[in-house]
Amino acid sequence: MNLRSVRKFLRLGELVAIPTETVYGLAANALDPAACARIFEVKERPTADPLICHVPGFDALDAYCHVNERAAQLAERFWPGPLTFILPKKPIVPDIVTAGLDSVAVRSPNHPVFRQLIDGCDFPLAAPSANPFSYISPTLAIHVQANLGNRIDTILDGGPCDLGVESTIVDLRDPDRPAILRYGALPVESIENALQRRFARPEESKTPLSIAPGTLPKHYSPRTQLELRSTPVLEDELSSNDRTAAYLLLRKPPHSLSNHIHWLSENGELESIAANLFAKLRELDSAGYEKIVAEEAPELGLGLAVNDRLRRAAYRGDA
Ligand code: TXA
Ligand code: MG
Repeated sequence: MNLRSVRKFLRLGELVAIPTETVYGLAANALDPAACARIFEVKERPTADPLICHVPGFDALDAYCHVNERAAQLAERFWPGPLTFILPKKPIVPDIVTAGLDSVAVRSPNHPVFRQLIDGCDFPLAAPSANPFSYISPTLAIHVQANLGNRIDTILDGGPCDLGVESTIVDLRDPDRPAILRYGALPVESIENALQRRFARPEESKTPLSIAPGTLPKHYSPRTQLELRSTPVLEDELSSNDRTAAYLLLRKPPHSLSNHIHWLSENGELESIAANLFAKLRELDSAGYEKIVAEEAPELGLGLAVNDRLRRAAYRGDA
């Protein structure tokens, strides 16, 4: 389907799965409450979990939210890109998009297909990741097809997502107290270096869950039980003959120990680890193992986003 038809579809209130540089999104016209309500139905997502509004760039924001100098600086440096701002919303943004909050999440993705699409749209695109609620996020069009193909008509195939984990979310409602709400594809250190100041981290946040409702402990989860190990995973465990478990390592081991050992990168580069994480988890989830044992990443840069996804994916509580 050509992009002109896709835009027409969206204008009519249809849903379209779109590629971004982080993960695939399930998009609707953000100004059409009925279309946005269908996003929640298709994903089986609770309506208390608000959506990100995707825009062509910083200049578009003024129509939807109250911008500030901090947002301007970050957009100048990092947009288009994997960074989402939380800002005070304007009334034009429907309540269904923001789960009734007085703030809205906004981002301008940097994917060539997305950019071509949004350039001709006269509305922003509300889009969560295009996965069923709490399952692993999609980084290929076939992931979307496998999970949601019978519920949506149009999937725009933009190839594999380069970054592979979702955007970093920063709360900029109070420009003097910026806070990271979600670790993501833009490392916190890059943001802090650019602005020459520290941002509060998610684990320090006293924000009640009602303000960051999507940050649930269980998320991104395979059906197969997932256990985490600190790095490096001990050779004893790797060389045990347990054929019911798949091991997911950060880097390729020096010698091949068994067919049940898998890896996310050749040499431990965090970019590859993040880019391959969701696709590998899906692959192992479909391979019939009783459990997946994954190695945690170092706690810095993209490793923070990878560990955040791994811990939520491994969470087995009731929440
Ligand atoms: O990379 C990404 O951010 C991808 C692509 C498609 O853009 N999108 C994505 O959307 O990850 P989603 O819905 O899976 O995650 C959005 C997160 C949720 O945790 C949601 O609760 C949070 O953003 N969020 C949205 N609006 C918010 C708001 N006003 N205040 C606080 N958190 C908000
Ligand atoms: Mg998601």
